[in-house]
Amino acid sequence: MTADTQTRDLLAQAAGAARYAPSVHNTQPWRWVVYPDRLELFAVTERQLRFQDPDQHMLLMSCGAALHHARVALDADGWVHEVERPAAEPLAIIRPLERRTADPAAVRVLDQLSRRHTDRRTMSDEPVDVKVLDAFTAAAEQAGARLCLLSRDQVIELAVLVEQAQKAETSDDLLQAETSTWVGGDRADGTGIPDGSLPAEPAQTTVAGRDFGVTGTLPVGAGHDSAVTYAVLYGTGDEPADWLRAGEALNAVWLAATEHGVALTPLSGPVEVGFTRQRLGHMLGGVGTPYLVTRLGIADTSGPAAEPTPRLPVEQVVEIRD
Ligand SMILES: Cc1cc2nc3c(=O)[nH]c(=O)nc-3n(C[C@H](O)[C@H](O)[C@H](O)COP(=O)(O)O)c2cc1C
Repeated sequence: MTADTQTRDLLAQAAGAARYAPSVHNTQPWRWVVYPDRLELFAVTERQLRFQDPDQHMLLMSCGAALHHARVALDADGWVHEVERPAAEPLAIIRPLERRTADPAAVRVLDQLSRRHTDRRTMSDEPVDVKVLDAFTAAAEQAGARLCLLSRDQVIELAVLVEQAQKAETSDDLLQAETSTWVGGDRADGTGIPDGSLPAEPAQTTVAGRDFGVTGTLPVGAGHDSAVTYAVLYGTGDEPADWLRAGEALNAVWLAATEHGVALTPLSGPVEVGFTRQRLGHMLGGVGTPYLVTRLGIADTSGPAAEPTPRLPVEQVVEIRD
């Protein structure tokens, strides 16, 4: 095996690891092309939520999460690499530069890729330690975004915005029809959210979880969200490259949360709907563009865990070229 083929195989492995990244409704809207010297990331607009996400914000965040997954895999392999983010497609090009001994911390992060998942159960009464929350804000900043932890008053305001966004989305028939093609029921193509990952009933929480319009089979537990920390991921830019970075930052926070035993649930409704996104921005004092709301807490593990979400076959998302 030549050095080129060996590098290409490692890059293909990193692209394969990125299959496990989170994505809106598990649409996995990305595709990788692997060359002997680089890895290119493309958005797949056939898997865009056209009615829920016409601006491609959630699509780009999902691709950013996949980009971060691939980088974590390369780090754990000791590959020093650079990332170029061209203005047009591909969204990103990863170029490996030099291989060193892998840092044990990077290997630990890699372990979190298979453990990370979306936990929609209610949370326990145990709050997340302040030092751990500090680690999350640091992880977001290191990845190029910011995380604003909300005060109790802001959480009440958030609850109203989540409800307003939900109402706006529920009253849109085309959006609802789109959701039903991705969420719940049986589907064999390796995408979407299975019933076993969706709450069997709405949880009694201050801030409502997304209403997917489908009753799942996941027992939510008797917990609440009174010990939960809500946080908004935000940044200064509103260009496609900024949303891609936001996805990388979301993933960095999510992997840090997984390492610390903290469950993270994204709430993207208030960002998807224009007027609630604007009000969310005002709530942050106009410091930047809100990218995503996250719920951070210690899951109530008295009941069963969520069913794992499926993934597309590797051949469909990773293409190898000479
Ligand atoms: C950009 C983005 C937005 C998301 N929005 C929501 C949301 O509003 N509500 C929710 O319950 N899950 C949300 N999710 C979680 C996805 O549904 C989840 O990542 C996907 O189904 C794959 O499952 P997994 O995270 O367990 O691997 C979002 C994920 C991403 C990346």
